[in-house]
Amino acid sequence: MTVLSSQLDIASPDFRAHRETMLGKLADLETEHAKALAGGGEKYVQRHRGRGKLLARERIELLLDPDTPFLELSPLAAWGSEYAVGASLVTGIGVVEGVECLITANDPTVRGGASNPWSLKKALRANDIALANRLPCISLVESGGADLPSQKEIFIPGGAIFRDLTRLSAAGIPTVAVVFGNSTAGGAYVPGMSDHVIMVKERAKVFLGGPPLVKMATGEESDDESLGGAEMHARVSGLADYFAVDERDALRQARRVVARLNHRKAYGDPAPAEPPKYDPEELLGIVPGDLKIPFDPREVIARIVDGSDFDEFKPLYGTSLTTGWAALHGYPVGILANAQGVLFSEESQKAAQFIQLANQRDIPLLFLHNTTGYMVGSRYEQGGIIKHGAMMINAVSNSRVPHLSVLMGASYGAGHYGMCGRAYDPRFLFAWPSAKSAVMGPQQLAGVLSIVARQSAAARGLPYDDEADAGLRAMVEQQIESESLPMFLSGRLYDDGVIDPRDTRTVLGLCLSAIHTAPFEGARGGFGVFRM
Ligand code: COA
Repeated sequence: MTVLSSQLDIASPDFRAHRETMLGKLADLETEHAKALAGGGEKYVQRHRGRGKLLARERIELLLDPDTPFLELSPLAAWGSEYAVGASLVTGIGVVEGVECLITANDPTVRGGASNPWSLKKALRANDIALANRLPCISLVESGGADLPSQKEIFIPGGAIFRDLTRLSAAGIPTVAVVFGNSTAGGAYVPGMSDHVIMVKERAKVFLGGPPLVKMATGEESDDESLGGAEMHARVSGLADYFAVDERDALRQARRVVARLNHRKAYGDPAPAEPPKYDPEELLGIVPGDLKIPFDPREVIARIVDGSDFDEFKPLYGTSLTTGWAALHGYPVGILANAQGVLFSEESQKAAQFIQLANQRDIPLLFLHNTTGYMVGSRYEQGGIIKHGAMMINAVSNSRVPHLSVLMGASYGAGHYGMCGRAYDPRFLFAWPSAKSAVMGPQQLAGVLSIVARQSAAARGLPYDDEADAGLRAMVEQQIESESLPMFLSGRLYDDGVIDPRDTRTVLGLCLSAIHTAPFEGARGGFGVFRM
């Protein structure tokens, strides 16, 4: 065993200050998560309950195996937009009859469970996760369909929801729809495209057009039940495979469907793992409030990997990036973690080599971000930093082992890409409340804009207004700062959630377990041309 030693001084003023800052950010996060939990608010929740219905998360809880975790994804979707936090949809991974499933549930207390542009993004992200990891998909349906005022944003791209359901089915990934209420018009294709369909008596309404529309179109007089009730679909149309007498019965039947799926994981469960030697509680005090101050990522690694056991690769070379091998909840992982913030040529080449090794050995990769990007300056340009950064990005792009990313601190510029940012399709990406991500830091960006404006004025022979410049810089800095924060980025679905650093090991363990449902093999070749 190569157990990491820790230099963290938990009695130091620095540790306490970092911890205080992190706790403050966690309290803010809690406030925002509470908004997602509150759904449409007291009035709509009471009305929903008054109709004898369960809330979205209560439905999920009854569906899951007792006392098993639910890894909720994208809970802050739509944060900072005009729509409710959570985007009227709950998505996540949970265990049903021993099978890890991807579960989505409309929240009917938020605008009738209608889908807005963020709900759509969130649903599509959930489908991607199900497809990549071969997780059966269970849709708990009760939705007013498209959010009508924003239909232009969702009608055309929204077709992908139904396309995905049938592609999952074609890939042999089971899809189950449980219909609790409204599932009309386009929404009717959720049960329509699912492998298994359960409908709740006198509650499910699944039709292409409701009674008023039918009256308008054909003049026929009809009612909800005859057009799309559970009983009609179970006895007459055959769209419902199972008829449930109430919501609980529907969830019980959904569990029975999953029990009979014969869905097998590609890999068996690993042997029980030893916990880290250091207290995960201490993860709160590692990242400084001021991200300009570097921190040692080994202190983080020591608190998330099995037995704090880490075999470092090339520890003396390219020391601003720590690379090495470990296990997390029994699953082998290769870790790339930024140490000093900046990525130089050596770090980039080391990363490319390490990623190739992980691919040769079929080992998933974990990227721990705290980078301000690739080094700039004539010395580094002449040394080939573009070629070397490209080498790392090439390796990340064409790597075929599953990737996990955690944004601990800074994740700026092309460093975000090289460290497997969102566009590089990590299987899962989470941020700590301390994270910040943007094209560059706010001060640098404001400074660059100011230099450009000054040069432009000089070129036109005009005087430069320094007072206005200071005001502009301050305004730009504030804007970029707010756009770099994890809640803002999570709201736009650029991550799968903002997590408490103390939960990192658990969250990554759940992700690794989900990942091992699908077989994977590293790229033995197939990288792009590496510029030497
Ligand atoms: N788009 C935007 N807002 C919607 C909506 C939609 N598709 N469906 C419902 N809402 C809003 C309602 O306007 C209402 O807002 P308000 O309380 O601020 O007035 C709120 O959501 C709750 O709707 P309400 O009708 O009071 O709830 P309900 O539980 O009694 O009925 C539905 C829910 C979904 C059955 C009903 O609202 C409905 O039929 N909506 C339209 C469905 C539709 O035709 N969708 C298009 C399909 S593509």
